[in-house]
Amino acid sequence: MFDYQNSKLSIEVRIDDLLARMTLPEKVGQMLQLDAREGVERLVNEFNVGSILHTSPEEMARAGEYVAATRLRIPLLTADDAIHGHSFWSGATIYPTQLAMACSWNYDLIRQAARETAIEVSATGLHWTFSPVLCITRDLRWGRVGETFGEDPYLIGEFGSAMVKGYQGDGLADKTAVLATAKHFAGYSETQGGRDASEADLSPRKLRSWFLPPFERVAREGCRTFMLGYQSIDGVPITANKWLLNDVLKGEWGFAGTLVTDWDNVGRMVWEQKTQASHMHAAATAINAGNDLVMTTWQFYQGAQDAVANGLIGEGQIDEAVRRILRLKFELGLFEDPRLPDLKTQSQVIGAAEHALTNLELARRSLVLLANDETLPLQTKQPMRLAVVGPNANDAQNQLGDWAGNSGQINWMPDGHPRDLIETVLDGLERLVPSDWKVSYAKGAEIAQFEVDPLGETYEDGQPRPPIVVAAKPNEALLDEALALAANSDLVVAVVGDCIPLIGEYRSTATLELVGSQIELLDRLAATGKKMVVVVISSKPMVLPESAINAAAIIQAFNPGMRGGQAIAELILGHIEPSGRLPISFARHVGQQPIYYNQIRGQHGDRYADYTQDPLFAFGFGLSYSKINYTNLRLAANTLGADDTLRATVALTNVGMRPVLETVQAYISDAITSVTWATKELKGYRQILVQPGESVDVNLEIAVAEFSLVNAAGHRVVELGEFNLLVGASSRAQDLLVARFEVNR
Ligand code: NOJ
Repeated sequence: MFDYQNSKLSIEVRIDDLLARMTLPEKVGQMLQLDAREGVERLVNEFNVGSILHTSPEEMARAGEYVAATRLRIPLLTADDAIHGHSFWSGATIYPTQLAMACSWNYDLIRQAARETAIEVSATGLHWTFSPVLCITRDLRWGRVGETFGEDPYLIGEFGSAMVKGYQGDGLADKTAVLATAKHFAGYSETQGGRDASEADLSPRKLRSWFLPPFERVAREGCRTFMLGYQSIDGVPITANKWLLNDVLKGEWGFAGTLVTDWDNVGRMVWEQKTQASHMHAAATAINAGNDLVMTTWQFYQGAQDAVANGLIGEGQIDEAVRRILRLKFELGLFEDPRLPDLKTQSQVIGAAEHALTNLELARRSLVLLANDETLPLQTKQPMRLAVVGPNANDAQNQLGDWAGNSGQINWMPDGHPRDLIETVLDGLERLVPSDWKVSYAKGAEIAQFEVDPLGETYEDGQPRPPIVVAAKPNEALLDEALALAANSDLVVAVVGDCIPLIGEYRSTATLELVGSQIELLDRLAATGKKMVVVVISSKPMVLPESAINAAAIIQAFNPGMRGGQAIAELILGHIEPSGRLPISFARHVGQQPIYYNQIRGQHGDRYADYTQDPLFAFGFGLSYSKINYTNLRLAANTLGADDTLRATVALTNVGMRPVLETVQAYISDAITSVTWATKELKGYRQILVQPGESVDVNLEIAVAEFSLVNAAGHRVVELGEFNLLVGASSRAQDLLVARFEVNR
């Protein structure tokens, strides 16, 4: 037995021993994380690969054998995107997407969903999930909005922290723990025009103000890995950004975990960003900047060896990165137990009944009631005929959203997740309506189709070029069928939204309107005069047509996961209370981008000459089936020191007939700031159940240290002076009570 195989020795001694035995190609191979969709054996034998991603269940079962046949038998670190459940494992529990989860404003449920995901993931031989996304949504046209927790840095930090804790469980010795990834570090979402991976126009100060805080929080809380984005900032590709990777992340925040690039980031510096002349130069630059694992750039294998041979980098630098990777493998105990797939545990935990229950609860809490003329809940004694129409009423895979089954990233689940595990809105209503009601269904409209890009199926370097999405033309037969159903119904439930080809990487949109013939469908349904409830299943906030805005009710579901259909039916029928609140603002018009609530003060006026700047639905907004009045906001003290805690109390009264799970939101507005700053920022919230007729006092406590800004010198400070605490049901000024206080020491 070699020393590195001796579990009684310390990890550092074992790493030293192993490193001393490794050749340069073996070391460089450890730094590679390669795409395993075409199999693992070649990656192990030709590249000495240290980590793999996108590994099919069949190959995962064999991966251990390939490694066992190598000289040093260094275990593989296996990774994938299990980002709202075990995305690519057939029959796993698929939860609402991050944006949908965020509507719950519920830390514990989000942590629980991540914990259960880790339990399912860890039984399948996977050690590492590329989740959570901590990007801040800025422009709704960006294709990846649905992968985020929305637009607010504080909420993103909260829910990111919840997911990291859920995934990493009791620490790496816990066999049900998986490594979490904070991604995409940092600023990737600051797109230009919503275009994916465009140059991010960010100063270090702007990064520190809004983009870095969620990352800093999870780094300090022990998130074990960070993944880069695709963006460049001020001319520097993130893969080469030594300041951010080295000085800030590893230096200031003390991050001792492992960094992974995003997909072919090292290669992109050569073929896409064209800032490196060769893979040798790109490899040297990436290593100099502090990267550890290099995702999918197989050319790095030779490039890094050439960089050492030509003196661009020293072998010692490779050793440092390899140390960090090996340390992770030793800490996970992979040399003793490579955590291979465990069939028995899989049969007990994949899609487990208790996970389905969490999933249902999270789906319920993720629904946001945006409008209601009291048509909902449907609680009539008379039997009703419901016409369920629309392209998303019964589209099971689409309901799951991106990163699930057949959403395009992997090739072993062409039909997606098992249909019988997914409840669509149609399924939910058919199952839950009283036995004397009638539910009928018509699709009514198509959303979009794919066409091969006339420029070809691949880019110059062989990377796939996404197909072009073509909006579906109105289909009169489908429309007529839906209108006929509507004519014979008492109420229409129209389920519209977007679809997989319109969302995700490379798939930003120029518009935010409903695509295909959906607007025509809604307009013509509205023209029948029947009452209509609009359910929107979409990855991100859409611009809604007048026919939807004026409907009897609107339910925003985002991508609500496998149990979404049941949750939506329960909401419509009043079996549950609506409690979701928006973690993101809705635009009325695509030209209002960016529409996030925490804008910087100082523009001339507050509207366009030809249009309002008001969102259609504001950050924090969401209705209940009852109304809560907020009164009597008071502070325990009106003058505070920077080390104190602000204590406030507000009275809530439920003036309606049904219970309300209210989310009391607390915003801070700093009256005078040395630099221009946000009009207001969310700093805390509490959820509280208020019964009909009940009045409750809600206490809020926020450390004054949270009321900081980043000054012109780039330092985060609390500036003495006057502040306003704003408390209420949403970020809209008319929903907020105000209490003034001073920080004077
Ligand atoms: C690229 C995406 O940007 C990232 O989020 C994902 O984790 C990796 N591909 C791996 O699939």
